[in-house]
Amino acid sequence: MEQRTFDRSGGSASVVGLGTWQLGADWGTVREADALAVLDAAREAGVTFFDTADVYGDGRSERTIAAYLRERPDAGITVATKMGRRVAQVPENYTLGNFRAWTDRSRENLGVDRLDLVQLHCPPTPVVASDAVFDALDTLVAEERIAAYGVSVETCEQALTAIARPGTASVQIILNAFRMKPLERVLPAAAEAGVAIIARVPLASGLLSGRYTKDTAFAADDHRTYNRHGEAFDQGETFSGVDYATGVEAAAAFSALAPEGATPAQTALRWVVQQPGVTTVIPGARSAEQARSNAEAAALPPLPEETLEAVRALYDERIRPRVHDRW
Ligand SMILES: NC(=O)c1ccc[n+]([C@@H]2O[C@H](COP(=O)([O-])OP(=O)(O)OC[C@H]3O[C@@H](n4cnc5c(N)ncnc54)[C@H](OP(=O)(O)O)[C@@H]3O)[C@@H](O)[C@H]2O)c1
Repeated sequence: MEQRTFDRSGGSASVVGLGTWQLGADWGTVREADALAVLDAAREAGVTFFDTADVYGDGRSERTIAAYLRERPDAGITVATKMGRRVAQVPENYTLGNFRAWTDRSRENLGVDRLDLVQLHCPPTPVVASDAVFDALDTLVAEERIAAYGVSVETCEQALTAIARPGTASVQIILNAFRMKPLERVLPAAAEAGVAIIARVPLASGLLSGRYTKDTAFAADDHRTYNRHGEAFDQGETFSGVDYATGVEAAAAFSALAPEGATPAQTALRWVVQQPGVTTVIPGARSAEQARSNAEAAALPPLPEETLEAVRALYDERIRPRVHDRW
């Protein structure tokens, strides 16, 4: 699979990576054997980048990745984790002392001395603008606890602030056919600065697969049930912040644009991959089959101009008025 580089920190990632929130919690139950099968299917298909977080299943996602990689020390996988959401997201919690404790826990969970990439996990805006926070992150690099750091953000403004920091290796942001605002300023700024872009929620929490109807029921312990209106965390993280009924209808129109030989989900991933400035896209998968199919999107031919225009028109007409100004 095509590999793209992290210019500031060195190293590289497969253009399609794997999101592993699903292997923790918040998406209904995933059995351990299925979780390991997802990781294996992704690696077998050429994925070299796993995204996780200390909070996914309160460490389960990290520990599952560690168990998987322990058996495959030469797999060549870069593991990006995140920190900061196991406590209240208030500026006073983002201290060097806490960073050391949080990274110690992730090092133990992942079974490594040095973490490949640690991302602040959607911190509040003042944290992204704090010199002290970035000094502390630089200290973690100097102490060789982490090889590099990045910031996972909610808004384009936060992304631009993070990109302006000289030590930021990567910015993780929602980017998909229903979330186009990062194309305007964030992706060009990141490309100019050499900051890697990790595109998350590329399927709008599965909507862009075109599989859901207005009657689809999600499990009670799935955030697509309990966070539809932002009750538990930022609304933008569930269905990309698009209200469900609108999203289902727009997803049906999106599905009709899929080229022959590509599923709607693969088309959605291909769309992200070909946006200039994207380093890796990290779809979440709940089965080995999904992981495999997502990885295959990397080999699809680029979407032609007329399809790109139709996707843009769909966004402008049905989605833009509802989300564009929010994130
Ligand atoms: N704050 C943050 O930093 C943050 C927030 C959100 C996500 N993330 C990261 O980004 C990753 C991706 O985002 P996400 O998982 O929220 O959303 P996503 O990738 O847009 O959607 C994942 C869902 O799409 C469906 N899906 C996946 N592959 C499919 C396929 N081939 N065909 C049909 N349906 C498919 C599955 O739904 P079903 O479950 O219905 O099968 C899956 O649970 C996460 O795993 C996590 O690593 C980070």
